[in-house]
Amino acid sequence: MMTVAGHVPVMLTEVLATLDPKPGEIYLDGTFGGGGYTRAILERAACTIWAIDRDPQAIARGAVLASAFPGRLHLLEGRFGELLALLESQGVDGLDGVVLDLGVSSFQIDDATRGFSFRADGPLDMRMGGSGPTAADLVARLSADELADLLFKFGEERQSRRIARAIVAARALQPITTTTQLAGIIRGVLPPDRSGIDPATRSFQALRIGVNEELVEIERALNQATRILRPRGRLVVVSFHSLEDRIVKHFMNDAAGQAPGPSRHDPRGLLPTELACFELVTRKALRPGPAEIAGNPRARSARLRALRRLADEEVAA
Ligand SMILES: C[S@@+](CC[C@H](N)C(=O)[O-])C[C@H]1O[C@@H](n2cnc3c(N)ncnc32)[C@H](O)[C@@H]1O
Repeated sequence: MMTVAGHVPVMLTEVLATLDPKPGEIYLDGTFGGGGYTRAILERAACTIWAIDRDPQAIARGAVLASAFPGRLHLLEGRFGELLALLESQGVDGLDGVVLDLGVSSFQIDDATRGFSFRADGPLDMRMGGSGPTAADLVARLSADELADLLFKFGEERQSRRIARAIVAARALQPITTTTQLAGIIRGVLPPDRSGIDPATRSFQALRIGVNEELVEIERALNQATRILRPRGRLVVVSFHSLEDRIVKHFMNDAAGQAPGPSRHDPRGLLPTELACFELVTRKALRPGPAEIAGNPRARSARLRALRRLADEEVAA
């Protein structure tokens, strides 16, 4: 299924099956994007959706969909890490389901002026929202050690120190302001390996995660989603790389009481206190089928995990 122009929703069949939308219920699509999930949910059941995106362009595009479903789709610009405050400001205090489709949309990647892609020349921006420091700001300001840590932590880049040194040397000669400039510097120190993956891939992922504080956002959103879910409400998350999936997996296992002993994954006390109120809908992550991967390469690394809040009588049983 193709939305307006560009973003093909990933694992849509599985999202609908695990979210299981019903008439009269209220859902949150925390990553509206091209509106692919939202449209399918609205078409599946006579429900209401609150949709969040931090990208003002995604929210503006959504107006067409909102007018096609009068009174049933409400768009909110903001971060999903602030979903509780965003929804409370609208008087929403309970949800029957939350869906998150992490990462960037094709609209964002394919627009060279957003600076997400090392395949196209554009400003080194990478902000999903309209504010805060850009990737160029990080590349200009961070020390060699800070850059190396960021590339290692958020890109799992084993050559992080070499790349950081090359960036610091290059920026002493000329400011690094474009995607092709940065990709060229990385390719200059890392020859292509046999995998065929561009050497700039991991560093671009790391910068994008850093610029948008993506991992902190996910932790906040998972925590807040479980607080606002009603009994029998579902939380469905589609992630695209191991850093995201690890957070989702540990959070859901802990929330469903699957972690051995006291939680090792919740040092900051992010989880709700009533731990056994949830059950895993997916024991193992669901993966897209071969037909979907063949038709949409972006789906290749997708993993879907889902959690369900138990009803009082189920907790007591
Ligand atoms: C993969 S796309 C979602 C695509 C959507 N499911 C569809 O079918 O069209 C992810 C979207 O989430 C948004 N996003 C990512 N992180 C966010 C955050 N922390 N808060 C709000 N929106 C976020 C991005 O701007 C992007 O538009």
